[in-house]
Amino acid sequence: MQATQTAHGAAIIVNEQNRQFHLTNGRISYIIKADEQGTLLSLYFGKAVPDREDFGYLIELAHRPTSTCRIDGDLHYSLEHLRQEYPEYGTGDYRTPAIAVCQPNGSDMVDLTYDGYHVSQGKPKLEGLPATYVDNEDDAATLSIDLVDRLIGLSVTLNYTVFADKPAVARSVVIGNNGADALSVERAMSLSLDLPDSDYDMTEFTGAWSRERHPHTQHLHYGTQQIESLRNASGHFANPVAAFARPGASEDHGEVIGLAFEYSGNFDLHAEVDTYDVTRLQLGINERGFAWHLEPGETFQTPEALIAYSDEGYDGMSRAFHRLVLDNIVRGAWKRRERPILINNWEATYFDFDEDKLVDIARTAKQAGVELFVLDDGWFGARNNDTAGLGDWTPNPARLPQGLAGLSKRINDLGLKFGLWFEPEMVNKDSDLYRAHPDWAVHTPGRHMNHGRNEFLLNFANKDVVDNIYGQMSRLLDEANIAYIKWDMNRFVSEGYDVTRGAEHQGEAYHRYILGVYDLLERLLQRFPDLIIEGCASGGGRFDMGMLYYTPQIWCSDDTDAIERLKIQYGTSYFYPLSAMGAHVSVVPNHQANRITPIETRANVAMFGTFGYELDLNTLSEEEFGKVRSQIEFFKRYREIIHTGDFHRLVSPDGNEQAAWMVVSRDRKTAIVGDYRILLTPNSRYMRLHLRGLDENAQYRVSCTGASSIDGAAFTGAELMRIGMVSSDGSYGEMGDSEPLGKASDFSSRLFVLTAE
Ligand code: DGJ
Repeated sequence: MQATQTAHGAAIIVNEQNRQFHLTNGRISYIIKADEQGTLLSLYFGKAVPDREDFGYLIELAHRPTSTCRIDGDLHYSLEHLRQEYPEYGTGDYRTPAIAVCQPNGSDMVDLTYDGYHVSQGKPKLEGLPATYVDNEDDAATLSIDLVDRLIGLSVTLNYTVFADKPAVARSVVIGNNGADALSVERAMSLSLDLPDSDYDMTEFTGAWSRERHPHTQHLHYGTQQIESLRNASGHFANPVAAFARPGASEDHGEVIGLAFEYSGNFDLHAEVDTYDVTRLQLGINERGFAWHLEPGETFQTPEALIAYSDEGYDGMSRAFHRLVLDNIVRGAWKRRERPILINNWEATYFDFDEDKLVDIARTAKQAGVELFVLDDGWFGARNNDTAGLGDWTPNPARLPQGLAGLSKRINDLGLKFGLWFEPEMVNKDSDLYRAHPDWAVHTPGRHMNHGRNEFLLNFANKDVVDNIYGQMSRLLDEANIAYIKWDMNRFVSEGYDVTRGAEHQGEAYHRYILGVYDLLERLLQRFPDLIIEGCASGGGRFDMGMLYYTPQIWCSDDTDAIERLKIQYGTSYFYPLSAMGAHVSVVPNHQANRITPIETRANVAMFGTFGYELDLNTLSEEEFGKVRSQIEFFKRYREIIHTGDFHRLVSPDGNEQAAWMVVSRDRKTAIVGDYRILLTPNSRYMRLHLRGLDENAQYRVSCTGASSIDGAAFTGAELMRIGMVSSDGSYGEMGDSEPLGKASDFSSRLFVLTAE
């Protein structure tokens, strides 16, 4: 037995004789074994168990009639009934394969067997792709298992990284052609895992523009339940994450397995339940539209998938992913760093602005305490509406007579940082770029080009295109003092094709496009390491772990209505931390929902995010402006906790009556609770919030931003977590009665600050 153990507790225990691998860190165990036939089997993933020389008893062979069997004369060994780590189709397993490779003779079956392993400390990079990383070699250990199909010279290396301090494993795969003929990889999952039963509730996060990432849960059933994207963006419609929970699991109890994909293009995440109740989980690039041509000697690297286990309910799963994002995905200058409070002019002006109007908005915002002014769409080329200009990244002199250098200087002189909107991947037909390079727009020769919002994708699979956009953007970043970029993307792919490559490479076009996007992001960050890039795609249409590697915050949704945002941010929080969620206060009636909500509630929701304003503060009354000032002051005081603390969901907004959530500082000395009324129930039930994550022995003094019977009182953490914090609305007298505590109303809200004494 050989164990590689990092100083911080990530261990890979290898039993060479039994070809058994046990990744553990005291919190989880992931056990894999190559059997005598060389098949790589999934033995266990879940809460940590002590190591054992041989877990082979978990391989349950049985004679099951009608099975296709592997060994001559043996009726027990069938791939159909084995729980595997990287299954193939064509050798007797009739479930969905992890891999398919087309060969010169037309066959796409592969037959993989174990061929060795390698263990290393730390976490290797994935060339050209986002991937988790560790600051210190001792924070993770990585196991690489080699599989081979000798007939066609195919090698498959499965990489597993176990993190020292997180109940999570990262997986990715490298597929190599060591044979004499070209091969075409037609399917290459990043993760495949067979679980021994199917008693799970699957929660997915579906939606559409303006209502992204609403959780939906259903019990697993026989057959395949899948979420996917074919838009070449993760999309508003399904997010590349899912939770698999034991029935009855709650926020703080029960077992939950979470999957997340660090990739921003087409994906396939599914659970397939066979008639023996085995569940096969798979996550990877969607096979539709994908085929990777491999010449002899070439390799293909899949993106990375993350799997986490919690025995502390959904909350435990969320904490694992939040910490992965904060510690192992977000990099560079903005890692675990408080984000600036911004004002964005989009909803304030849309396309109707000039330099003076922008400066007026910025000046007042500065007086309120805002730190960053962001100029949104419309500043460049002939962009007076959304039919023209994309691709021409030069300031429009009619709007900005002194260019970006002049505007950014005026903004900087006010004491604000300056940020700028781009939509780097798109082009309008009415643009100089398109007129000069019509072939750069994604199209299939001879086919009609469908548009989305009058725009077309640039072919980011073509390096010349990426170089051009990099040149245009970096020139502007050199010329003006730009601290922040909003990176928008407002349409999905159609007529996907790469005119720069031959027929055998067309299945690469979608993935190469995403690699081009990552390349541009990486090059900009290398050159301008202090830049904050905020991702955006018609709101939250590309909110994924892949983008977070480059863009530490992502605009959650174009829907800025506080009540809709409760649902969107609540759903988003299952996998993504508050520091990732772009959230702004906007005007009422709200532009998307036409709803009128108090300015307090708009801020109390947006504060659980990166926080900013998206309105012209000059239009507010003096009283409202005063409130904005206090909101900003409040946020500055607690921003560090909000952006780096532990978040807990308390009450789901689904009930349409109340929603609540909280964030606790890592030292558990301070907590902020957001308590929201949605539709008020007159004379309502008593309400208690069972807080989480506090120090049970500490005494917390409560201070409330609104009316509350417990304002100023102190309670132990134990009381607040077990008995609950009273959050009832006070008394409901007859009409005309005076109401000392003030009345809650539809859409009202309060923040409670708890400070340990
Ligand atoms: C879509 C984004 O989600 C909005 O915030 C805004 O930037 C517009 N695009 C601008 O066209």
